Amino acid sequence: MELDPKITEKIQTLAADPDMPRSFYLYDMTAMRTKIAQLKDILPAQVDIYYAMKANPHEAFLKTAKDSGAAGIEIASLGEGEKTLAAGFTPDQIIFTGPGKSPEELEWAVDQEIRTVHIESMAEAHRLNALCAAKGKTQDILVRVNPNFHIHGAQANFSGDSSKLGLDEDLFRTCLPDILALDHLNFLGLHVYSASGILKVEDLLENCRRVFKLAREIEAQYQGSTCDVIDFGGGFGIDYLETGADFSPEKYADELSKLIDQFDFSGRKFVIELGRYLTADSGWYCTEILDIKTSLGKKQVICDGGAHHFRRPVALGINHPLVIVPMNAPPVFDGQESVDDEMVFIGGPLCNTADKLAPKDIYIEKAQIGDIAVLCLAGAYGRSMSHLEFLSHTPPPEIVV
Ligand SMILES: Cc1ncc(COP(=O)(O)O)c(C=O)c1O
Repeated sequence: MELDPKITEKIQTLAADPDMPRSFYLYDMTAMRTKIAQLKDILPAQVDIYYAMKANPHEAFLKTAKDSGAAGIEIASLGEGEKTLAAGFTPDQIIFTGPGKSPEELEWAVDQEIRTVHIESMAEAHRLNALCAAKGKTQDILVRVNPNFHIHGAQANFSGDSSKLGLDEDLFRTCLPDILALDHLNFLGLHVYSASGILKVEDLLENCRRVFKLAREIEAQYQGSTCDVIDFGGGFGIDYLETGADFSPEKYADELSKLIDQFDFSGRKFVIELGRYLTADSGWYCTEILDIKTSLGKKQVICDGGAHHFRRPVALGINHPLVIVPMNAPPVFDGQESVDDEMVFIGGPLCNTADKLAPKDIYIEKAQIGDIAVLCLAGAYGRSMSHLEFLSHTPPPEIVV
């Protein structure tokens, strides 16, 4: 992967600043802005784009979602809800997903009158209904279903197995009358998010097709179960491994449009909640190379920051693209080691073997002590998914250009 010269220059300027910590996240919101604009342009008019803010809760990402015309924010906690409101979204632009919502979180949702609460279990349905009854209110809901199928080719599958996410499809089919009977909940439709990190449009559309079929079946079976809203979750993939197989939003838009016509669903609303696709290429994790040495024939490249700053590669076992930005620092001593056209280990300063910035040995053409290792596609699930407190190192600041 090549860095835009503007980004390289910014990294060099920041890294040369003696007041800057040696590790930082750099964000440039151009890619996110462009992607939202493109999706709004090509997707069928019935599809609303929500930003799944768990991918990156930094306010620049929320503001970009807002300014680019995203329909709203998918939240998974009260904390995310408060950040969403602080960024200028209104409560009716918030949808609340995720298992284990606490009574306080549900109460907050009802008090704020957010758009939809996505029910993940029968206990949650009853708890929310009781809360609404006590307040004399009614809450619009979607029910999250764990469907009876797997999506091929996904980086992570959430469906088809025992899961904490949603109600199993068979259970949902039998419990739906009980949900419909809860007086203070207004059933609007389904939420089925089966898998993430999908690069093949056909795989993601298979999810849509099956969910449409499920909607048709329950509507035929139960009165009052019309699915006016269908939420497909996220899932648009990012080509972290640089295979060249980028997700094609154009193809997705075309095929989804055909599917909507095929099912005669044009009067319905559809929701997509995108995280990584919108944000990954708006961020870079940058960290100074502090040491290079050889151990049993392999170069060990040790950086100022490690998995505590950027946990995703090791947590998911995926190498992110790595670029070395040269800084031409004076040598620490004559004859110090450097990297020259070789596969290396790269990690940080933590005293454990899980501290890797690339879980598999990675190719570096040239690097020397003082250069900046830049992990690309770090805008999604980066800093906020890391364990920053471990070893009490300085947390990396987030710089927006
Ligand atoms: C409910 C929900 N929606 C959306 C997303 C965003 O997924 P992605 O980053 O794959 O787009 C997630 C991610 O975990 C999620 O749990």
